[in-house]
Amino acid sequence: MKICIIGTGYVGLVSGTCFAELGNNVICVDKDKEKINKLNQGIVPIYEPGLEEIIKRNSRTKSLKFSTDISLSIKVSNIIFICVGTPTNKITKKADLKYIFNVTNIIKNNLNKYKLIITKSTVPVMTGDKIERILNIRKNKNKFDVISNPEFLREGEAIRDFLYPDRVVIGTSSSKANNIMRNLYLPIIKKKNRYFHTSRRAAELIKYASNAFLATKISYINEISNLCEKSNIDIKEVSTGIGLDERIGDRFLRAGPGYGGSCFPKDTKALVSTAKKFNTELSIVNSVIRFNDNRHKFLISKITKIMNNKLKNKRITFLGVTFKAGTDDMRESPSLKIIPSLIRKGSLIKYCDPSGIKKEFNKFKNINYCSNIKEACKNSDLLIIHTEWNEFKQLNFKNLVKKKKFKIYDMRNLYSPTKMKKSKISYFCIGR
Ligand code: UDX
Repeated sequence: MKICIIGTGYVGLVSGTCFAELGNNVICVDKDKEKINKLNQGIVPIYEPGLEEIIKRNSRTKSLKFSTDISLSIKVSNIIFICVGTPTNKITKKADLKYIFNVTNIIKNNLNKYKLIITKSTVPVMTGDKIERILNIRKNKNKFDVISNPEFLREGEAIRDFLYPDRVVIGTSSSKANNIMRNLYLPIIKKKNRYFHTSRRAAELIKYASNAFLATKISYINEISNLCEKSNIDIKEVSTGIGLDERIGDRFLRAGPGYGGSCFPKDTKALVSTAKKFNTELSIVNSVIRFNDNRHKFLISKITKIMNNKLKNKRITFLGVTFKAGTDDMRESPSLKIIPSLIRKGSLIKYCDPSGIKKEFNKFKNINYCSNIKEACKNSDLLIIHTEWNEFKQLNFKNLVKKKKFKIYDMRNLYSPTKMKKSKISYFCIGR
């Protein structure tokens, strides 16, 4: 099939590349000339394991192309995926849809034959209806169908999530469009029946409701971990114990510094504002957001306690600063709130992250990036394990720090408190 992907951000690039890998002809378009030039040279602008290799392979066979000519790319394609960003508006807190509607207008001017227009970007409920109105359903009758096909890709696992999905959700009332979509996804859904056809509005809501549910699981387990910490119970045992109930499931029950990234914070807030529009209060999701937004305060006061209220001139090392392992993404990472607060209190920060130095910290004094773990840990008073990178899972801290007294705050519960106690290391963690 001839596919045009509009927007070569995370979702667009991964989806376009994987569709090419499945045997389609794909053109990925973007207005950012520099990005497209780089992609044409095989330089991938995002960090996603395995992506570069598949891009190069499919670019060689010409099944994957990159272009800045949006109009021409739309004209020669019969399937158009809209994958542009939907950032949260700082004032209204709603998803900002200006990029979606800009693209819709360009599509409208290039509807030369029947096309499927598919939103893969996360868009509020009824955005599909608005797109349809812009495309002018009366004038362009029989020339298009608007479909919702939300993505469920995790950063760092996006290729696997795309090629081996838990489910493919297709929202449309057109049986013609549904048949084309089923054929498009056939290679990855034929093994298991994971294709779910529903209404367009339901598909749009499924995306938000899924992410809000996962965020709820995380805030819930983090709240229970606060109780565990006070009552001397191990949160890991509690997570395992409740996760064994198949109705609950054992995934997304790891207590930690709170959720971050480009999706959960944005999508939970957008869901609440959609509900407001329909005069419905989502009190549970609101609590989840509030709890997560305040998580850093709990962590900072714990750090202060660990350091006996003496943070000035203390050497604090962050092992990992990204919002999770396997990505270079800093968006909404808890470290962005914790580190500046510690700097303000006079601490001297070093950090090491396998995904490299972070521009987000350039504006601060007293923070240094170390390219290796040894250099980062040497002479530290406190090591904070912030991100669960594999590189941090089996460290010999005494050899690394090279001083008698130091402390560890493990925000991902990677180590055993019992073993730490045996090694006489002053070790603190979450909910244990
Ligand atoms: C998420 C969704 O999983 C994906 O389906 C969606 O469409 C995009 O958003 P991603 O943002 O890449 O993917 O990260 P994910 O792996 O889901 O983790 C999100 C956050 O939750 C991270 O900050 C992570 O550290 C945290 N988390 C996750 C926990 O604190 N505990 C857990 O048990 C799981």
